Amino acid sequence: DKKCVLSGSWRNELGSNMTISAVNAEGGFTGSYFTAVTATNKRILVSPLKGSQNSKSQRKQPTFGFTVSWTFSNSVTVFVGQCFMDDNGEESLKTMWLLRQEVGSPFADWKATRVGTNVFTRIKGQNM
Ligand code: BTN
Repeated sequence: DKKCVLSGSWRNELGSNMTISAVNAEGGFTGSYFTAVTATNKRILVSPLKGSQNSKSQRKQPTFGFTVSWTFSNSVTVFVGQCFMDDNGEESLKTMWLLRQEVGSPFADWKATRVGTNVFTRIKGQNM
C-alpha cells in the first residue's frame, strides 16, 4: 500500500509553498517555507523549517511537527499535522499551527499568539 511521504514540495490554501528534504532515520527533516501572507508589514523572505516525523515502523499516514523560524520577522510558527494518503493516491497534510509574535511586555502576552489550520497538497512535478 502507498505511504504518505513528507519529502517534496507542497502548497497550502493561502498559496504558501514549502519544500521538505528527505526524512532521516530518526524522523528528522529540514526544509524551506515561502509564506504567501504575513502579519507584519515586512517584505516576505524564504525561511527555514525544522521538524520531525513519528516514523516508528514507517506508518502509512504519519504524524509530524515542524517549526518555522521567520527570517523577516521576530515570530515563530509551529505546525503539527498528519500526512494522509487518499484512495486515489493523492497526499495531503492536515495541520494546525500556532504563530507566536514578539511583544514588548508580559501585559501584551494575551494578544501574542495566533492559531489556525492549513491543508497542504503536493505541487505536481515536484514529487521527490
Ligand atoms: C510573520 O508574519 O511574522 C511571519 C509569517 C507568518 C505566516 C503564517 S504562519 C501560519 C499561516 N500559514 C501560512 O502559510 N502563513 C501564515
